[in-house]
Amino acid sequence: MSESSQVRASVKLGVLISGEGTNLQAIIDAVDSGELRADIRIVVSNKANARGLERARRRGITAEFIDHRRYAAREDFDHALASALNAHEVELVACAGFMRLLSPVMLRAFPNRIMNIHPALCPAFPGVDAQKAACDYGVRFSGCTVFFVTEGVDDGPIIVQAVVPVHPDDDGERLSARIHAEEHRIYPYAIRLFQEGRLEINGRKVLIKDYPPIGVVTLRNPPL
Ligand code: GRF
Repeated sequence: MSESSQVRASVKLGVLISGEGTNLQAIIDAVDSGELRADIRIVVSNKANARGLERARRRGITAEFIDHRRYAAREDFDHALASALNAHEVELVACAGFMRLLSPVMLRAFPNRIMNIHPALCPAFPGVDAQKAACDYGVRFSGCTVFFVTEGVDDGPIIVQAVVPVHPDDDGERLSARIHAEEHRIYPYAIRLFQEGRLEINGRKVLIKDYPPIGVVTLRNPPL
């Protein structure tokens, strides 16, 4: 049985952040409300002043700052990251606004056990400023994607996506706020699917056990 399809009473989670940490907060809130069975063992930030570190500490979660600038190579930083996570027996790593690309060192340390969230409908608009890129492009819908991290940028097997409409007067910031609200719903849900052992990676695709009925959800923008 692969790691991702193993049922766990509670998943030992490590969260990687670089900034605000509202997704981290959504995960904490989902744990506190009982919606998600996870034990957040450690939060790591590569930025000393990341607000997410405070959010973790306030909740009594171990929060560590690991400065990537102290490491000559990306791989060395990743070794430090992997040791911190392993020291806390982390099973699943959730990148939540973590602004560093992971090298094969981390991918090997947590095979098929690293998730990330991207503020666009992958594979559209990979990389930074995805919300502004979507506005500038003129797409009618955008959204967010939780996926398993691979070596590519925002390119891994997709677990959950949520769609939001783009309004004619949107700028990157307004669209961002709309997308953020959905991120806070789908990230805890994706982690829950992992905890429940319902995810099976099959090549590029993630198969979900007991896939919930989708219903009729056709969206049109502009509305007819
Ligand atoms: C989110 O928009 C996420 O999609 C992207 O970085 C942002 C992090 O936001 N990867 P926050 O720090 O969780 O508020």
